[in-house]
Amino acid sequence: LRSSDGLLEAQLAAAPGPAEIGGRTVTVFAYNEGLPGPTLRLRPGDRVRLRLQNGLADPTNLHVHGLHVSPEGNSDNPFVMIAPGAAFDYDYRLPADHPPGLFWYHPHHHGLVADQIFGGLYGAIVIDDPEPVPVARERVLVISDLTPSGAFGRAPVGQAERMRGREGRLVLVNGQLEPSLGIRPGERERWRIVNACVSRYLRLSLDGQRLQLLGLDSGRFETPRDVQEVLLAPGNRADLLVTAATQPGGPAGSTTTSRLRALPYDRGGMGMGMGGMMGGSSPSTATVDLATVTVSGEPVAAASVVPRRPAPRDLRGAAVTARRELTFAMGMGMGGGGGGGGGMSFTINGESFDPDRVDTTVQTGSVEEWLLTNSSPMDHPVHLHVWPMQLIEFDGRPARAAEWQDVVNVPAGGTVRVRIAFDDFPGRTVYHCHILDHEDLGMMGVIEAR
Ligand code: C2O
Ligand code: CU
Ligand code: CU
Repeated sequence: LRSSDGLLEAQLAAAPGPAEIGGRTVTVFAYNEGLPGPTLRLRPGDRVRLRLQNGLADPTNLHVHGLHVSPEGNSDNPFVMIAPGAAFDYDYRLPADHPPGLFWYHPHHHGLVADQIFGGLYGAIVIDDPEPVPVARERVLVISDLTPSGAFGRAPVGQAERMRGREGRLVLVNGQLEPSLGIRPGERERWRIVNACVSRYLRLSLDGQRLQLLGLDSGRFETPRDVQEVLLAPGNRADLLVTAATQPGGPAGSTTTSRLRALPYDRGGMGMGMGGMMGGSSPSTATVDLATVTVSGEPVAAASVVPRRPAPRDLRGAAVTARRELTFAMGMGMGGGGGGGGGMSFTINGESFDPDRVDTTVQTGSVEEWLLTNSSPMDHPVHLHVWPMQLIEFDGRPARAAEWQDVVNVPAGGTVRVRIAFDDFPGRTVYHCHILDHEDLGMMGVIEAR
């Protein structure tokens, strides 16, 4: 769906329905019967009028993850609740200087976010570059995981799995199991990748082909960086150039293949002594094949140079108006709220999510520095709505460049320091762990910009 004349009018219907996955028909939740939902293509300055029709048996709503738009009213308001059978008209106005990049949309009704995304509710949003990158083609790859079973498109998930963060048995690329992508020798493609998994980290690799990272989330580097792999926490996006080898190895005219894989990543677990009780090994420790890349045909001439981008904004020299500390913790049984059932509590600064309490009040126009501390034995990918975060320090080591993300992984036992410019958009919204089971269990806070 593409905007024209600065206006996109769109309809999304969330409903259970059939999907064909690996030759089997399974029931999923989908937007407009698609897995993923339709890609929204926008330009800075656009207005988007979007009607969401709730065909689910539970309440839902919509969040436009990473977009810099107002959190109030019928804009990106995470407190909207759309009852089963009801509809809601969203109205988003993108500022004229909105950064280009890859964003995504998904439900945000507290307590059901993990279930609804795990069921299949997600889609990509692309905001075009003012100056396109020269490539043979562009692909949007939405990577998600799910465990098919049951009439409602989701497996019943146990308490231990929720606490650890569920990982689906199948990992899908655009709703498909191990799709095959064709490219010619020497050809360059642009892959825009979303990690739409509820809890799974994606440490992506593609053997034998050149990978260059243009940026993460909406943050862009001045020049592409050669990389061997890219780590995406849940919610993160990668903007990646893939150039197929000109000498694919075999005789001319032959076909070679390589694999897009998720390599093992240890994101920690429930901690000492809990391992046995919680079912042992830590998640994401197996390699998963995601897609096959087939290089064949006549080689093409080398693609032209990628134009340099303007230097990103850098708050390292900015005057900081407030400093705060947010500590992400898992504890036994305390904290109230959230998941219930006597398990662990998931808290920020000792508190479990309460939509009626404002945890953090900021002044619009200010620059803040936040120290994100993870006191638990598991990684937490920390996400703030509306305003991106500039990475300043990891475990005390300063960042080497001005990098911006809207999901920042805070490793088990580690700290990350970020700066945030609250330039505009007064209103209330949230920050939370993007392991969405942790969010549903209470690891979320309310921020109000005044
Ligand atoms: Cu993608 Cu509040 O999240
Ligand atoms: Cu978000
Ligand atoms: Cu978490």
